[in-house]
Amino acid sequence: MSASVANADPSVSATRIEGLGDNEFTRIADSIKTEAGICLPESKRTLVHSRVSKRLRATGMTSFREYCDFLDTPQGKAERLELLSALTTNVTRFFREPHHFEILKTVTLPPLVEKARKGGRVRIWSAGCSSGEEPYSIALTLLSLLPDAGKLDVKILATDIDKHILHQGRQGIYDAEDIEMIPADMRRNAFSAAPDGDASKYEVGAAVKQLVAFKPLNLISPAWPVKGPFDIIFCRNTTIYFDAPTQHGVWNGFERVLAPGGYLFIGHSERVNGPAAARFSTAGLTTYRKNS
Ligand SMILES: C[S@@+](CC[C@H](N)C(=O)[O-])C[C@H]1O[C@@H](n2cnc3c(N)ncnc32)[C@H](O)[C@@H]1O
Repeated sequence: MSASVANADPSVSATRIEGLGDNEFTRIADSIKTEAGICLPESKRTLVHSRVSKRLRATGMTSFREYCDFLDTPQGKAERLELLSALTTNVTRFFREPHHFEILKTVTLPPLVEKARKGGRVRIWSAGCSSGEEPYSIALTLLSLLPDAGKLDVKILATDIDKHILHQGRQGIYDAEDIEMIPADMRRNAFSAAPDGDASKYEVGAAVKQLVAFKPLNLISPAWPVKGPFDIIFCRNTTIYFDAPTQHGVWNGFERVLAPGGYLFIGHSERVNGPAAARFSTAGLTTYRKNS
């Protein structure tokens, strides 16, 4: 196998990509399950065909078998990351699931704001942060209560497995329609016209950006490169793609790095279950608190 991104043939974009056979679908699904914990059931075959076809075109290949063989070679390592990026679902938006931000503003953050004002340390983690809308929504909520948060020991860690989406998060540039749901006063204060002069795009301001650090992190890694303890963890709409044992491992990991009494916010269709469940109490809709 000699193909690589470097020798991609642009004429291939016009070439018809073959169908995705059982064997290659299984090889791709197994690879994504091993790398990221993401389960791709048979019902996702059309989606996999469409997204992986783009990777075939980018690498100049026309056969899924050739592509899968390439992934298995040492030279295929970088392409395995591209495949992962192609197959992750990055859907997100500012202030998604608004009830969480209400709890954050009225219940969870006020004591932490007091702690920070007295010189205490406050740490928040957005795990599976996608393109940054979630950690920036947390930062905007925090700044509404603590405008000088940037001068205090307050930090938001934003992690994701997908390096391309992390890059977008760090850039913090969004379409006008993406920031429409942000309350008008917050929007005016926190965003400015994007530097490239495109009037339809806005950039998150420095005061918000400086609170958020974007880092790569795979939630199914046996050891997470995080120190903790965290006062708050958001991990929403990320574990839905994992099987039950993988989810249990993630909940256990969050329980380990959360401070006693720390909050865990999860997605609307997720539940904390398995061995860690006994060490959390419900604190609202899809909101949990680690027992003290
Ligand atoms: C649907 S988005 C959720 C974004 C945001 N939390 C929200 O609720 O709007 C799921 C994110 O999880 C990330 N992800 C998937 N598997 C992951 C893993 N094993 N480790 C870390 N992030 C992962 C994906 O790259 C994607 O950006």
